[in-house]
Amino acid sequence: MESHKFNPESLMMTHGYKPELSEGAIKCPIFQTSTFVFKTAEEGKAFFEIAYGLREKEPKEELGLIYSRINNPNLEILENRLCLWDKADDCAVFESGMSAISTVLLEFLKPGDLLVYTNPLYGGTDHFINHFLPKIGVHTLGIQPNQSISEIKSLIEASGKSENLAMIFLETPGNPTNDLVDIEAIANLAKHFSTEDKKVLTAVDNTYMGPLWQHPLEFGADLILYSATKYIGGHSDLIAGAVLGNQELISRVKVLRTFLGNMISPNTAWLLLRSLETLKVRMTQQTLNAQEVAVFLNSHSKIESVNYLGLLDEGSEQYKIYKKQCSSPGAMITLSIKGGEKQAFQFLNNLKLMKLAVSLGGTESLVQHPKTMTHAGVDPEQQKRMNLTDKTVRLSIGVEDAKDLIWDLNQALESVEL
Ligand SMILES: Cc1ncc(COP(=O)(O)O)c(C=O)c1O
Repeated sequence: MESHKFNPESLMMTHGYKPELSEGAIKCPIFQTSTFVFKTAEEGKAFFEIAYGLREKEPKEELGLIYSRINNPNLEILENRLCLWDKADDCAVFESGMSAISTVLLEFLKPGDLLVYTNPLYGGTDHFINHFLPKIGVHTLGIQPNQSISEIKSLIEASGKSENLAMIFLETPGNPTNDLVDIEAIANLAKHFSTEDKKVLTAVDNTYMGPLWQHPLEFGADLILYSATKYIGGHSDLIAGAVLGNQELISRVKVLRTFLGNMISPNTAWLLLRSLETLKVRMTQQTLNAQEVAVFLNSHSKIESVNYLGLLDEGSEQYKIYKKQCSSPGAMITLSIKGGEKQAFQFLNNLKLMKLAVSLGGTESLVQHPKTMTHAGVDPEQQKRMNLTDKTVRLSIGVEDAKDLIWDLNQALESVEL
C-alpha cells in the first residue's frame, strides 16, 4: 500500500493523544493537576536538566511531565496539533496572545537592540512596543505598509542602529486596516542585516489569517505568533496565545515562559483542542460569508470604501502580496462609512444580529469602532498615517447565514442619517 500523509484537519481529533494512557477515553481528559509523580529520583533529575536548559536532549529523549507550569499533557497535545498547520518544529502556548507576544519580545530583545515593526499593529502590541520596550532600553522603529523594501532599508540604516537590529516584527494582514506586508521580502531584509554572530529574526503575527490561510515559515519567517483567542479558539469563550518556530527558538521561549509562569491552563488547552477539530470548517464558512458581505457593503450608497482582501484591485502591489502569501481572503472586513463618528455609531447601535464587541474570529459576527476602542491608545499621528478615522468600522464575520447578516447590515445602514 502506498504511504499516505494525512492533512491537519484529519489529524485534529487524534494527533498526539494515546487513549491507552487514559483508560481508553476517546477524548483527551483535562489533566487538572499541578504536579506529576516521578518514577525515580534519577528520572526527576533528568527531567529538570532538560526543562532548565542545563543540557541538550539526547536523540529521541522526551521531556517527561514535571509540573504544570513547565508541562502538562493538554498543553503538549495542543502544541503538537498546532505545529501541523504551520509545519513548525515546535510550539509554545500561552494564557493570552499578548503573553505570547511579550514573552517573545522579552526573550529575543535586550537593552540597546533595535526592533523594527510594521504598522498597523493590534493596539496592545503597539502599546507594549511603544510604551514598555523603550523603558528597558530597546529602540523601536515603526514602518508604514506603503513603504518599499529599499525605503525601509534606508530608514534602518539612517537610524544609526542597524548593527543592533535584532528583530523585525510584522502583523499581516494588519489589524484593523487589512494592510498586507510581504513576508518574504522582509525576511530577506532581516537576512541582509544578519551577521555570522547574530541572526536578525522575523516574527509574524498571523492572527488574522489563523493557521489556515497563511504560513509565514514558508516565506522565511522565524516565528509565528497567534492570539489563539481569535480563530483558533473561535467561540469567544477563552483567552490564549501561541508561538511557533524551530526547536532552538521555541526552547528559549519555553524556558522564559516557565519563569514568567504565563502558560495556558489545562482547562483552556482542552477547550482549544475541541476548537481545533472544527477550525477548518469554521474558517471556511466564515470566509464564504465574508465574501458575500463584502460585496454587499462595497455597493452600498452609505459606504465610502471597503478594505477586504477579496476585493483588492488586481494589479495593485497589495494584490501581488495577497496572491503570493495568502490562500484565502479570510473573514475580516474594514469599512469607511460616509459621514463621521456619529454615523459610525448609529450604524453600530442599530445592528440586531451582529454584536458590538471587540475581538474577532469567533462563530458570531462582531463589529467595533477601532479608533475609539481597540486602537484608542495608538498615537493620533500614527492613526492618521494608517488611515484609521472616525468613519472606520471593523467587522469580524461569523458562521451565521450570510443572508441574515446582510439583512442586518442593510437595516442598520438605513438608520444612518447622512
Ligand atoms: C492581531 C492581534 N494580535 C494579538 C492580539 C492579542 O491577543 P490576546 O487578546 O489574546 O492577548 C490581538 C487581540 O485582539 C490581535 O487582534
